[in-house]
Amino acid sequence: MVNVHFNVEGEIVTAKGEPGDSIMQVAVRQQLASIEGECGGELSCATCHVYADDGLGFRPRSEEEEELLELVDERADNSRLSCQLILREEMTDVEVSVP
Ligand code: FES
Repeated sequence: MVNVHFNVEGEIVTAKGEPGDSIMQVAVRQQLASIEGECGGELSCATCHVYADDGLGFRPRSEEEEELLELVDERADNSRLSCQLILREEMTDVEVSVP
């Protein structure tokens, strides 16, 4: 079990995820309005944009993720597509910010 903390404009919403879940899936289950996950994680919508700092243990961005991130508003150095952030066994708590 991994505690996923979503920072939504300063307010923290915490949801539980399992290893293998993506942050997008956890957010959609939690019905976080700001993460839609429209394409279901197929890397074609960018409606799952979050900010996640390095060092959380996620895989680095793929070329496809990098390209799609070019299209998002409010792009930052730590922008990620949350459907590509997969929870791992060794994680206990992760925090991401929602644009
Ligand atoms: S859910 Fe569509 S790109 Fe992440």
